[in-house]
Amino acid sequence: MADRPTLTTTAGAPVSDNQNSRTAGERGPVLLDDYQLLEKLAHQNRERIPERVVHAKGWGAFGTLKITGDISKYTKAMALQPGTETPLLLRFSTVAGELGAADAERDVRGFALKFYTSEGNWDLVGNNTPVFFVRDPLKFPDFIHTQKRHPRTNMRSTTAMWDFWSLSPESLHQVTILMSDRGLPVAPMYMNGYGSHTYSFWNDAGERFWVKFHFKTQQGHKFYTNAEAETLIGKSRETYQEELFGGIERGEFPKWTVQVQIMTETQAEQTSYNPFDLTKVWPHGEFPPLEIGVMELNRNADNYFAEIEQAAFSPSNVVPGIGHSPDKMLQARVFSYADAHRYRLGTHYEALPVNQPKCPVHNYHKDGQMNFFGQKSGNVDAYYEPNSFSGAVEQPSAKEPPLKLSGDADRYNHRIGNDDYGQVTALFNLFDAGQRSRLFSNIAAAMDGVPGAIIERQLVHFQRVHPEYEAGVRAALKEAHGYEASTISQEEKGVAAE
Ligand code: NDP
Ligand code: HEM
Repeated sequence: MADRPTLTTTAGAPVSDNQNSRTAGERGPVLLDDYQLLEKLAHQNRERIPERVVHAKGWGAFGTLKITGDISKYTKAMALQPGTETPLLLRFSTVAGELGAADAERDVRGFALKFYTSEGNWDLVGNNTPVFFVRDPLKFPDFIHTQKRHPRTNMRSTTAMWDFWSLSPESLHQVTILMSDRGLPVAPMYMNGYGSHTYSFWNDAGERFWVKFHFKTQQGHKFYTNAEAETLIGKSRETYQEELFGGIERGEFPKWTVQVQIMTETQAEQTSYNPFDLTKVWPHGEFPPLEIGVMELNRNADNYFAEIEQAAFSPSNVVPGIGHSPDKMLQARVFSYADAHRYRLGTHYEALPVNQPKCPVHNYHKDGQMNFFGQKSGNVDAYYEPNSFSGAVEQPSAKEPPLKLSGDADRYNHRIGNDDYGQVTALFNLFDAGQRSRLFSNIAAAMDGVPGAIIERQLVHFQRVHPEYEAGVRAALKEAHGYEASTISQEEKGVAAE
């Protein structure tokens, strides 16, 4: 025992006995002055922090981004210059399940990246899908409510999901991907990641380009069928953690090819679709992906709580040369994540080791709970700005080029003039017979218990994508649940005209 460290209280005093509480007599009650016991119990009561309101269940690892292509004409970001290597953290997640949810559940997967660049942290908080369920942030909390538990039954409600989706045709693209093979990957390394939103690049000349980020798996796509996943979950609920953690421990480092699609500001005015609409992709034929590098995961966290649970990713974290775009969803996310982190982790969440930038940080924020680092302005007397005490000053070269905006401030109906079906048809046309058949049966399974009026309303959307989509789901519903067409009028379905 001589070579082992001494157990101490949090105040550093040695602990003489960690097996027996201090009691009045051998059989007597515990004494209130047994501070060691009190400290242990009090700490235990504070071991849990709020789980993420969405994407609670996750798996993460550290790695590197290596840039091999040359996109220096589009962006001045140091991390994207040829030959640069940047350390990163990648956290994968499911969206709806709570912290203890089974890994192999059909759901969209989060793909959250934190690049520790020399110019500050750049976070790309994406998914394994290139699009999303809603295009206006006002609908995000409503959508998430349909994925979480019903207030009365405290169970998830298929009715709520399909009610919302059938009344929100912009969700159809993402719903189709979710119900396809890619909605249930075998493990995180067998799926792509997408930045999903349109972001921007800007260069030293002050020119802006719109950009989409893609991370293509080098392990190939592998998926489970519903039946396979059900059997698997019966045996283990932690299959993603086992595969990701175990693989990295064995030296099997997963890799992704990094690609960008670039659109000029002029091109953005000419596309038939809104290039800032998160329910749309940029077709590869029009905007070919450029390969710019490779991303590898090669190190597990040593403490899951400290490094993965306390990780705070936010789309607000961009660096010079990378910016946001007019995507309405993105503006809401710029607010929402840092707000969630202040609530979930506390005021100084960015000073936690996993979130701390690997470059100098200087600002004039002051005090606050758990401030263990004093003033960060660069000089103790500089706690306001401007000052005469060599405190940190602004850096004009970090200024983003101006963005021209126009239009009247108003609430514009995003369901008017948006084609919610064309790109879904393009996707459906990519599916072979087996993929289509699994799509139909996955949807039928997910519609268990949904009232006929809602099912019929959703079938109208499938029909608008492709007659075979509607017919296939209808047949699968009959096979799975004995479902027969209900006699519901177009009016009752509440489907807007195409
Ligand atoms: P392309 O044929 O050039 O691109 C097809 C893309 O679809 C590829 O990136 C491919 O990914 C991906 N894909 C293939 N099978 C599936 C699947 N089962 N679920 C999800 N994605 C799949 O055509 P377009 O660029 O015109 O896109 C056609 C449709 O493909 C889109 O409407 C969209 O639904 C989907 N898609 C498009 C993407 C884009 O950025 N353009 C990205 C992802 C999907 P992979 O290379 O990994 O096989
Ligand atoms: C997590 C809000 C859309 C991907 C979260 C969290 C919030 C949130 C509050 C929890 C953050 C935390 O506690 O750390 C929103 C809002 C959205 C939105 C308001 C739309 C208006 C999206 C979209 C994507 C996405 C479009 C992907 C393209 C993620 C991921 C996480 C997450 C991957 C988990 C991050 C992690 O691993 O810590 N979101 N979200 N979200 N969101 Fe969103």
